[in-house]
Amino acid sequence: MDRIRIVGGTPLRGMIPIGGAKNAALALMPACLLTDETLALSNLPHLVDITTMANLLAQHGVTMALNGDSALGSPSGHTLELTAAEVTNTTAPYDLVRRMRASVLVLGPLLARCGRARVSLPGGCAIGTRPVDLHLKALEQMGATIDLQEGYITAEAKGRLNGAHIIFPQITVGGTENALMAATLAEGETIIANAAREPEVADLARCLVTMGARIDGIGTGTLRIQGVERLHGAHYSVVPDRIETGSYAIAAAITRGDVELAGARIDLMEAVIKTLRDCGVEIIPTERGFRVKADAGEIVGTDIMTEPYPGFPTDMQAQLMALMTTASGASMLTETIFENRFMHVPELMRMGAKINVHGASAIVRGVPNLSGAQVMATDLRASVSLVLAGLAASGETIINRVYHLDRGYERVEEKLAACGACIERIKGEAAE
Ligand code: UD1
Repeated sequence: MDRIRIVGGTPLRGMIPIGGAKNAALALMPACLLTDETLALSNLPHLVDITTMANLLAQHGVTMALNGDSALGSPSGHTLELTAAEVTNTTAPYDLVRRMRASVLVLGPLLARCGRARVSLPGGCAIGTRPVDLHLKALEQMGATIDLQEGYITAEAKGRLNGAHIIFPQITVGGTENALMAATLAEGETIIANAAREPEVADLARCLVTMGARIDGIGTGTLRIQGVERLHGAHYSVVPDRIETGSYAIAAAITRGDVELAGARIDLMEAVIKTLRDCGVEIIPTERGFRVKADAGEIVGTDIMTEPYPGFPTDMQAQLMALMTTASGASMLTETIFENRFMHVPELMRMGAKINVHGASAIVRGVPNLSGAQVMATDLRASVSLVLAGLAASGETIINRVYHLDRGYERVEEKLAACGACIERIKGEAAE
């Protein structure tokens, strides 16, 4: 198992290209199941999670062709052509679903296209129980019968699904995406109220429109979908990754550096931008994206609470916490989306951070210096927060279980090294 070795303390300077959004791509790829024509997705990031989704789709009968190259310096990414001419298998097996919860996003499209889907229940994950009950209730409202047996969800529909008025009692990104995809081929109108407004949901909706779907209210909390009989092929470019962007913005800030993020979009991440500015980080729009400048003043502690979009994203909480460990004064970070998302805290404390967790809130008191240590990543965003802390810490940091990082960050060590970071991947067995 690979490890990452960092010798911290170098302010980052230079340019980092931002890739396509992992979470958008993971919803866009299963949308290919809704049509027998080809869906070509460009600006696709090269990540382990994308490969897992490709493997899942392949065993449903999707054929794929990969073109293009996401050479460093170009944020253009790959183009993947996905064709579900025929769906040969409607079962998503445990072995693939347990590796990645987003696998459950094949449920809505399979059901809408084939009238049947059998998808393994995802089970627990490191950041909480994360049920899929809201996905299932929405599909039931559209006329599906759902049965849970032997660890599998079996969903069936007699003929086409029906349009329905779905009101999500709680905002769910994946639930909105599953319901939205199913509704595109349902008979009549579906209204999804209290829909997730995340840019990745809007990206999926826009792609579905280019495939012939009729959707109003994209980007708002109320989506109105007029079902159509069939969708067609399309070419769609994946939106830039706002979480990758935010993570590298914090890499610049935590090292008190000056980095341009090429391909990044401020409009997709206003809450993160505002938080960074509140901390004293300069954010300067450029032609290619924006610049993050923190080489002049000190970073000041600030309080945040994670919320559904457009609030501060839970997927940026661990990274902001790393920055707050080096800020002056105290800050309070409150997690409202997932119940177990402070696993990075003990690891950051091994590096000298001062953090107290009280229920869903963490109080961070900034320290003048973090020091390098051996640490272990437990989930994707926790692992990147340890990389960020390592970039700021004096001495050597070794991060174990790098596979978490590879799920969501493309060539992280190359991108950071290009800006002067002393970071390398150590291949092979880790002493865990
Ligand atoms: C997506 C993102 C993930 C991000 C999260 C919140 C992808 C692939 N993943 O995950 O990176 O952290 O949004 O922004 O896009 N819930 C239920 N029942 C359900 C569904 C959700 O109780 O049926 C709860 C969850 O446990 C959680 C909250 O709702 O507490 C939000 O989850 P949700 O928005 O569905 O997250 P995901 O789509 O899994």
